Amino acid sequence: MSGSMPETLLSVRDLTLSFATRMGPLKVLRGIDLDIAANEVVALVGESGSGKSALGKSIVQLLSPPFVDGRATLSGSIRLHGEELITAPAHRLRAVRARDIAMVSQDALSGLNPVMRIGAQIAEAAQAADPALSAAAARRDARDMLAAVGLPDPDKAARDYPHQLSGGQRQRVMLALAAIRQPQVLIADEPTTALDVSVQARVLALLADLQRQSGMAMLFITHDLGVVANIAHRVAVMYAGQIIETGTVAEVFTRPRHPYSAGLISALPEAPAHHPRLAGGPPDLHNLAPGCAFMPRCRHAAMACSQPPPLKPFPGGAHALCWSPLS
Ligand SMILES: Nc1ncnc2c1ncn2[C@@H]1O[C@H](COP(=O)(O)OP(=O)(O)O)[C@@H](O)[C@H]1O
Ligand SMILES: [Mg+2]
Repeated sequence: MSGSMPETLLSVRDLTLSFATRMGPLKVLRGIDLDIAANEVVALVGESGSGKSALGKSIVQLLSPPFVDGRATLSGSIRLHGEELITAPAHRLRAVRARDIAMVSQDALSGLNPVMRIGAQIAEAAQAADPALSAAAARRDARDMLAAVGLPDPDKAARDYPHQLSGGQRQRVMLALAAIRQPQVLIADEPTTALDVSVQARVLALLADLQRQSGMAMLFITHDLGVVANIAHRVAVMYAGQIIETGTVAEVFTRPRHPYSAGLISALPEAPAHHPRLAGGPPDLHNLAPGCAFMPRCRHAAMACSQPPPLKPFPGGAHALCWSPLS
């Protein structure tokens, strides 16, 4: 170990995902490169339909090429500590899913078994992550984790079934279910979107605490830029299946380089006034502009933008996929 660059934990390279549809192949991820270091929180932002969930699911489900549920094709590279997961054998993927990479999603019910008590589900996850753990120890750990995520009566929650809890309580249970594995990477896909605003802030604070205590890496997916500064170190901005800008939170928020990032940020109450709002809506992935996918909405579009844009580097590790970046 030397220097100040943190070691890359998760490394995604040229990740491409396409779905077979009646209108032909739909390219949902178009060459994603993304690195996340241990202890680092990267926020993945972008409008609805830009491919954020597709990227999160591709990483966590570690779907093997060439087919994903018969209709999708995934290619490229996903490495954890240098180990290639895309071509790893099934038993390795099961172990990675049980222990190393966990996901919390927007819909807390979808991740829970409706006919199994909460405590038993969490204990089962604990034993899947650590087969040496006794059943009694797993039950105790599960109960302690339910207390740690702030459920007021953890013993009762452990005996409850998912439908007996409120939305906010279920989201805490989902966090407990992920955290009990002590994953190296947590993918949190809009984990608070379905909750009341008052509950959102508390669940986010809890997520930030869990991340700091465990040192896990986190990919925090959100369409709400307002929460990014509170939780993330770096931001990756997605547009039409590509990461069009990355940089530290401070860099991207105060000095966005891509006109799309500038437009997203302009919607924030504390945004610098000089960035114009975004016009138009998300593109149709079946009919993308041949060069820069953002060109039809871009105020700075020029001739060059009808060709695929280059990834331009900036000081501090920021990048923008643009022919004529701002500032
Ligand atoms: N199973 C699927 N079959 C076909 N298209 C899909 C499927 N899942 C997602 N998509 C498409 O992939 C694109 C990205 O979706 P998604 O990753 O959910 O976006 P986001 O999370 O950023 O809102 C959308 O155009 C969506 O319609
Ligand atoms: Mg999504």
